[in-house]
Amino acid sequence: MKQILLGITGGIAAYKSAELIRLLRKDNYEVRVVMTQSALQFMTKLTLQALSGNPVHSELLDAGQENSMGHINLARWADSLLIAPASAHCIAKLSYGLADDLLSTLYLAAECPVYLAPAMNQSMWHKAITQTNIDRLKQQGVHIIGPESGSQACGEYGLGRMSEPEAIANYLNAQHTPTPLKHKKILITAGPTREALDPVRYITNRSSGKMGYALATQAKLMGAEVILVSGPTQLPIPHGVHLVAVESAADMHTAVMQHIQGQDIMIAAAAVADYTPTSIATEKIKKEGTHTELSLRKTKDIVADVANLNNKPFTVGFAAETHNLQHYAQDKLARKKLDMIAANWVGQAEGGFDSAVNALQVYWPNGSQSLPLTDKTQLAKQLLILIAEIYHAKNTA
Ligand code: PMT
Repeated sequence: MKQILLGITGGIAAYKSAELIRLLRKDNYEVRVVMTQSALQFMTKLTLQALSGNPVHSELLDAGQENSMGHINLARWADSLLIAPASAHCIAKLSYGLADDLLSTLYLAAECPVYLAPAMNQSMWHKAITQTNIDRLKQQGVHIIGPESGSQACGEYGLGRMSEPEAIANYLNAQHTPTPLKHKKILITAGPTREALDPVRYITNRSSGKMGYALATQAKLMGAEVILVSGPTQLPIPHGVHLVAVESAADMHTAVMQHIQGQDIMIAAAAVADYTPTSIATEKIKKEGTHTELSLRKTKDIVADVANLNNKPFTVGFAAETHNLQHYAQDKLARKKLDMIAANWVGQAEGGFDSAVNALQVYWPNGSQSLPLTDKTQLAKQLLILIAEIYHAKNTA
């Protein structure tokens, strides 16, 4: 487990630290919080103690500590120090090495990487002295996250808003994530497709897009340039990923073929319709008789068409099976000329479609590996590490 010290200074963005702690804990960090006296005006210790699961510190000299050296112990405990929000005052103090409270003393004592997420009024951010202070901190190796542009609590608009907690957590994760996909271009398909029957009805499936979006997020964190071609989902666009939104299998085929040139790796996690209506009624189909029939024709196989290209990328398919998983997956691997296939059981109590967790059985021409049931974020990481390994082995052979 990674150990992070979160420093909170006084500013309206302090309320975002509650969500930040939640995200960091979800990402497997143990979080200890240090608040300045002005931060205490915005958030209570009790709230952050409950969220972090640890006592919150704000006093430099802690009579409860045997040798009153709590700040040194805290600084040594941390793998990283994050200050979010970092006010203009705090930034100025740190850049001049002033140490008159617990947080600034911790900064001086810290030997771990330090990250600051500034938050202030846009004029304060643009002031030459603030920019000089930021430059001095950068020169000392401090990482600056943000700030972002947008409307501010004071009613003004401009650069100075603290980055969103998700962006801060992603930035930190990227520092701790291996980057075996650095500079690689990866196209990922995700989600379901919708095959229209008439202006109001369509055929679809239970894919939520979670598996494909987790792959896109993790591939980006591992250093890849990511294009995500996605059917309709309710999920937010992963940070730094280029999203191409599509609806039908035919749209997805067109979008993939438009973007595939120059890609190093393609991962087909989408649940693409195998059949689509032969025609789309221009008006709503009326209810007549006790039975009706639909005429369907086969869709183009996107991943197979990619694997058939002359200059094909390393092509990874998925296989969703309710029975004979190994047999059908290995058949798809060979028939579609894939480099690798990740097979999952679907229609079970846990895993597969629209679940937060999944398990995969991965096959490639001369090997296989089981990735046991875990949340889709972890599973995506494990699958990408495996893909990177086999991809690099193939390309250095
Ligand atoms: O989205 P979630 O809710 O997180 O669920 C994840 C998932 C179960 C959808 C995912 O893990 C998964 O298994 N995706 C593939 C689903 C599927 O369509 O499998 P298939 O066995 O029918 O297809 C085999 C492969 O061919 C897949 O890579 C599929 O993307 C691809 N295919 C299929 C048909 C088609 N016309 N074009 C394709 O590219």
